[in-house]
Amino acid sequence: MLIQSARALKLPCQFLVGAATCAYQIEGAPFCDGKGESIWDRFTKKPGAIIDGSSGDIACDHYHRMSEDIALMKQLGLSAYRFSTAWTRIIPDGSGSINQAGLDFYSRLIDELLAAHIAPFLTLYHWDLPQLLQDKGGWYNRDTAYHFANYADAVSRAFGDRVKHWTTLNEPWTFCWSGYATGEDAPGLSDGARGGLVSSHHALLGHGLAVPLIRANAPDSSVGIVFDLNVVTPATTSLSDVAASKRFEGAQNRWFLDAVFKGAYPEDMLNLCGDVLPEIENSDNQIIAAPIDYLGINIYRRSIMAEGTELPPLNFQRVSPPGNYSAVNYEIWPECVYDVLQYVHQNYAPNEIFISENGLALAHEIVTDEGEIHDPIRGKYLVDHLSQIARAAKDGIPVKGYFVWTLMDNFEWAYGYTVPFGIVHVDFETQRRRIKDSGKIFAIIAKNCSDS
Ligand code: FCB
Repeated sequence: MLIQSARALKLPCQFLVGAATCAYQIEGAPFCDGKGESIWDRFTKKPGAIIDGSSGDIACDHYHRMSEDIALMKQLGLSAYRFSTAWTRIIPDGSGSINQAGLDFYSRLIDELLAAHIAPFLTLYHWDLPQLLQDKGGWYNRDTAYHFANYADAVSRAFGDRVKHWTTLNEPWTFCWSGYATGEDAPGLSDGARGGLVSSHHALLGHGLAVPLIRANAPDSSVGIVFDLNVVTPATTSLSDVAASKRFEGAQNRWFLDAVFKGAYPEDMLNLCGDVLPEIENSDNQIIAAPIDYLGINIYRRSIMAEGTELPPLNFQRVSPPGNYSAVNYEIWPECVYDVLQYVHQNYAPNEIFISENGLALAHEIVTDEGEIHDPIRGKYLVDHLSQIARAAKDGIPVKGYFVWTLMDNFEWAYGYTVPFGIVHVDFETQRRRIKDSGKIFAIIAKNCSDS
């Protein structure tokens, strides 16, 4: 049944079907070949920071198994692969000289992907700031934006001839608010709304400074950014819930989208957060609004919000209706993909949109005696969410590709190894990879697309 539904999916022609990963979550080898320390290398050693006390020190050992992993991608029939480069492999102290061995690793990865006819989508920043820059304030420090631009310059100079899709930042909402406002993620600062707003302004500035440099170094390529967006609805029709919902939507979505697509932060957020705003210099808005070619959307759920006490002055609380939930407590709600595509298309009209992450965490996955992993819930999740993309494409929304989160089970930040998201199972004792049933379903979808 699932197989038939996967076969029946009608995605747009030339639609890219790929998988996403992130350097810290898969690579391991934290200090190999001259790599410097990142904030995640440091944060994972803090007692209590990671639920199972683990770290990405070994993770999937992808640094040493990269060719094997590309063979897997090929077996799955992927046409694109979204990965991130670790800043600290390339510029170990964040702002100094380039470590050629770091560049060489990614150069080999890119060459092997191209040889396998898999398009490389390179993300420059997926949360692993060099620790030496954190020691000077991290994203609190405006200088970090300029260091990021220099790093983007170095990487795009090296790979601009071969990489045609560039992403500056992955999910600034999450790495700024969870890193600087709530402290759940590295660097672990709990400074409330001011933390989220100041760090995100500097991160966006770094994005805006990087875009023209990447364009100059990588002509004929597409440059974009990845946001984690949700369609937000109020829990009730009460004025207070409606207002809370708008505040949350303002902070998670419009703060980022308006800055990049409209050249100014939303007025209601500026008024609401008057006391905790960053310093915004005269030309910042213009720099941040550098035209981009595509928007990547990471989407895992919808958000239902009510008036509450979280993160003043946002003052919201999340409401979880009865339903099916993943191992990270996200409601399974496939329409969220269609809704977010509509929301972005109607309000911001990016030229192209990619669903740059979407996927399902399931706890307690079992390898059978035959070496199989039966995860029909994930298989159905993929078909259902991709069906919503097909629906959006039919309605004229320029959605060009989908990246499942994630290629293989890996280190899931504060959850450690407790919530596998992969379509490939990894036995972390032996590093053996096994394609799950959901991976087989995904391969059918990928094949349909490449044949169409
Ligand atoms: C996203 C992150 C990614 C992964 C998924 C589950 O927020 O970009 O690294 O953790 O969630």
